[in-house]
Amino acid sequence: MKDIIEVIKTRRSVREYKEDQVPDKDIEFLIDCARYAPSGFNMQPWSFLVIKNRDTLRKLSESGKKSMIPLLEPFKDASPKTKNFLLFLKTKGTDMFYNAPVLVIILGNKAAVTVDFDCSMAAQNMMLAAHSRGIGSCWIGGLLPALMNEELLKELGAPEGYKEVAPLIFGYPKGKTALPERSEPQVIWLK
Ligand SMILES: Cc1cc2nc3c(=O)[nH]c(=O)nc-3n(C[C@H](O)[C@H](O)[C@H](O)COP(=O)(O)O)c2cc1C
Repeated sequence: MKDIIEVIKTRRSVREYKEDQVPDKDIEFLIDCARYAPSGFNMQPWSFLVIKNRDTLRKLSESGKKSMIPLLEPFKDASPKTKNFLLFLKTKGTDMFYNAPVLVIILGNKAAVTVDFDCSMAAQNMMLAAHSRGIGSCWIGGLLPALMNEELLKELGAPEGYKEVAPLIFGYPKGKTALPERSEPQVIWLK
């Protein structure tokens, strides 16, 4: 097993996957790791929607792309990355989930005051645990606008009173992903 620091420093957002499916027992293992995350008042306000159905994934990707395009359009000149992402979204046949075989949407109970933080903590646990077992992941925030539609969430089987927080894809990486540049953080010491 890899050392935790090595896992933290070598995890990457993976955008190219093999076709192999991640076994249910491994998804269950990741969800088990998620529930050890800290949460405000120990509310543990998370629920997990696991989607493996190819047809559902394709439809979700299409809805995600459609909802995201008008939101990004005003920012198209903000950076080359924004421009490229917009082009990717507009290109027919591109998959917002990069052909990953499974999407896990972490849903949060709206009644919990720290729900967004809690579910994000759970998400990081899952991504790190996945990496430690050779499973790649990526947070697909671009799906958020589509999942703001409560009807769609309901259709997918989300429990009443829950909202979308973290859509995560998982799968086996095709090749290696280089470390995107890390800048030095601003640190203010008061000693
Ligand atoms: C809240 C959030 C939303 C993200 N949304 C997307 C997304 O929609 N599509 C994508 O390809 N990557 C997405 N990412 C991944 C980031 O682009 C990635 O974390 C960043 O480039 C740093 O790379 P690394 O994760 O390999 O260190 C998202 C990450 C976070 C934390």
